[in-house]
Amino acid sequence: IPVDDFDLVIFGATGDLAHRKILPGLYRRFKAGQFPATSQIIGAARTDQDDDAFRAEASKAICEFAGAKADDPQLAEFLGLLGYVSIDAKGEGGWQALKDRMRKGAVHAFYFSVAPALFGDIAERLAGHGIADDDSRIVVEKPFGRDLASAKALNATLAQHFNEQQIYRIDHYLGKETVQNLMAVRFANVLFEPLWNAQYVDHVQITVAETVGVAGRGSYYDKSGAIRDMVQNHMMQLLCLIAMEPPYHFDPDAVRDEKLKVIRALEPLEPADIVRGQYQGEGSDYLTDAEDPDSRTESYVAMKVRISNWRWQGTPFYLRTGKKLRARTSEIAITFKEPPHSIFDDSGHPKANELVIRLQPNEGMNLKVMIKEPGPGGMRLVQVPLDMSFADALGPEGADMPDAYERLIMDVIRGNQTLFMRGDEVEAAWAWTDPIIKSWEEGKRRPEPYDSGSSGPEEALRLMHRDNRRWREIRA
Ligand code: BG6
Repeated sequence: IPVDDFDLVIFGATGDLAHRKILPGLYRRFKAGQFPATSQIIGAARTDQDDDAFRAEASKAICEFAGAKADDPQLAEFLGLLGYVSIDAKGEGGWQALKDRMRKGAVHAFYFSVAPALFGDIAERLAGHGIADDDSRIVVEKPFGRDLASAKALNATLAQHFNEQQIYRIDHYLGKETVQNLMAVRFANVLFEPLWNAQYVDHVQITVAETVGVAGRGSYYDKSGAIRDMVQNHMMQLLCLIAMEPPYHFDPDAVRDEKLKVIRALEPLEPADIVRGQYQGEGSDYLTDAEDPDSRTESYVAMKVRISNWRWQGTPFYLRTGKKLRARTSEIAITFKEPPHSIFDDSGHPKANELVIRLQPNEGMNLKVMIKEPGPGGMRLVQVPLDMSFADALGPEGADMPDAYERLIMDVIRGNQTLFMRGDEVEAAWAWTDPIIKSWEEGKRRPEPYDSGSSGPEEALRLMHRDNRRWREIRA
């Protein structure tokens, strides 16, 4: 469904995110016919350049990151929608020129693809110059704070000029097709929801494993670490979608209210329930990549999380994420309880059912069920997968999933906040991670080393073994 005519201003348009994600994403949506060719995309940054120079820069990025051909007529048409204003975020230069470019009647959206330290300056000038009004939307990116206090301060800064309905906080995991699919699987089927509780679920494992390291962005990453970079936001969102109660409607506040309740019900993390790791190895060492031989920042974290509510009392959620692991894979595995009694005396106890939702790559679902082993050898049980890949089940369209950013930017224009984080959600997530980060900082303990290309530190295995459970293998 096409969206309305819009003027989108990208602050930080010469930066990495604009090049890699925002401009290529917009180009792909344009190619798909999703927005009118009257729309404007205005780059704004400090660099002094004109529209044509910005178009050339955008063209290069789109060819590199969206695979466009330089002579593609649709690319030329898309570039025609681009403009550029050189702007001084902390001064007055460029703001009037930006105002002159904005059209009456179009949807106005402002993407803050800049360091959070500039959010306040930009918000103030947008409001002060009358460029943004009560209908405008602003888009902000992580890192949304680095603890509760800074997140509150950012929320307060934005709230001086915009109300919550205007603020779109991006967590790009919510834009992933398969992450949204978690809600479809849970709430559009009758099969799973009756079993989706502590009575039937033994435990849940959420894994986001990456093969990349932090080389090239080490100095940024080193101030963050896996808990701030992945757990407080992306993993927290996955946890919420798995654990939340059914919202009464697929509506922004209904969904976000339920997610918030999950975050608030998280038990405080105990140091014994967390393992931190740091990758090491010749040619692939965290300390080299981070450019700090004494760094105590974690590139891996595994944790046991408990949710204190009726639905989940007694069912732990195990989360792990890390860089430089054996394979790139993100998945959620729900392990159900074993049947209470086996009627098949000779053939052993049936194994527990397991539902694995593969978020990336090879997006799909796998439900493990028990059947009789074929053959005349009597009643012997065997576990088999009901395995489905979305690409196979849905054909080429199933494989051709829009990038998270494409979907989220179109939602901004549509005015739909369902897949964006609300301010109170972000604050609640920091309130939960803050004490543990503080205890690490005070304790000064080094993360456990793990070999690059492995499955993470040994200690993470013990986190499971002491509960008589085991991690699923990390493999592509
Ligand atoms: C980003 C993190 O938010 O998400 C990165 O800052 C991480 O460290 C990335 O690599 C993972 O996203 P994706 O979409 O590749 O799973």
